[in-house]
Amino acid sequence: MSDDASLERLLEAALESRRAQHLERRRRVITPIDAVHVEIDGRRLVNFCSNNYLGLTHHPKVIEAVATATRAAGAGAAASGLISGYTSGHASAEAALAAWKGAEAAVLPPSGYQANHAAVQTIVGSAEVAGTRVRFLLDKLAHASLIDAVRGSGASFRIFPHNDLAKLERLLAERDSEEMQVVVTESVFSMDGDAAPLAELADLKRRHPFVLLLDEAHGSGVYGPNGAGLAAELRLTDAVDVFVVTLSKAMGLVGGAVCSSRSFCDALLNFGRAYVYSTAVPPAIAVGCEASLRVMRDEPERQRRVRELARRVREAVGMNGDCPIVPIGLQDEPAALRAAANLEERGLLVLAVRPPTVPKATSRLRVTLSCEHSDDEVAVLIDAIRQLKRVE
Ligand SMILES: Cc1ncc(COP(=O)(O)O)c(C=O)c1O
Repeated sequence: MSDDASLERLLEAALESRRAQHLERRRRVITPIDAVHVEIDGRRLVNFCSNNYLGLTHHPKVIEAVATATRAAGAGAAASGLISGYTSGHASAEAALAAWKGAEAAVLPPSGYQANHAAVQTIVGSAEVAGTRVRFLLDKLAHASLIDAVRGSGASFRIFPHNDLAKLERLLAERDSEEMQVVVTESVFSMDGDAAPLAELADLKRRHPFVLLLDEAHGSGVYGPNGAGLAAELRLTDAVDVFVVTLSKAMGLVGGAVCSSRSFCDALLNFGRAYVYSTAVPPAIAVGCEASLRVMRDEPERQRRVRELARRVREAVGMNGDCPIVPIGLQDEPAALRAAANLEERGLLVLAVRPPTVPKATSRLRVTLSCEHSDDEVAVLIDAIRQLKRVE
């Protein structure tokens, strides 16, 4: 048998195993209509599963900025930032991102996934050169990009139970004096829509010095003055050493950003392989990023509206808070898939999230809101979820 044939058999067996557990992932072709409506197989659906919290994918000013910059600077960067892919648009967006986050500097890797890798690689690479041991302490529900980044870095790490600061404190106390400890968490958790206890983390940092790497992929845009994030809203920016942001969610674009000190960003250009060895985001995306930042500043009603809609949906399902990520827990994978199909019959697109994206036995519908959803659409959603809960 050729190696090709054995590879095919191996792939089929692996996929069959996923299928048997109702865990196989497949894509569907969608046609975007606007920020919150799509067409699938000729049917118009209201999209309740994107991360388009502020509807900026379709904001006329963002589209115009990207289109104009594309005509001027071309469709792609054609090289990494360290070769010839770093334009005035990138430099200007980085300065704007840094100012927005209250940081000295920023670097724009091609995605949030890569931004997390580059941030971790910067710490590990610099520590290696300096001969310092480093240990990462990761929240159990940290995004796959953070876990992959830490695992892939070869550095030592421990995982602490979700938001369990007593356990985190015990781990921090194990530190030997030579070691640098890095706590890695998210301000708003991507699958649960809950928040890290940032004030308590800031207190903990005073008792046990550590570096705080905070992923604000989902906090940015939705919280804080000008959408600067949850840490900014809570006036805890100073407690954070390294912010990771995505341009792909509230900003409606693609790309990531690491915002930190000038020296961290300089080190990233030397040790952050996920940035160094990848083509820069297109110049037009960098220009679009600044347009998104301006919209966040000039149209704060978008943030107010998405949080108000989130409060409405959360109240209806017995949850507190105003985070636009609303998890609807279901017993198992078939139940989650049935629930998603049921909502789709009612014209609502909601994704069933299953392991390994979430821990075993926690399959759920991940409902997300956008300021562009109408009151009527949200009312239909609430009614549909209530009916689901009665059936399940
Ligand atoms: C918490 C978190 N961090 C990082 C990422 C990766 O961002 P991007 O989609 O821009 O690669 C995501 C997106 O899935 C996320 O939810």
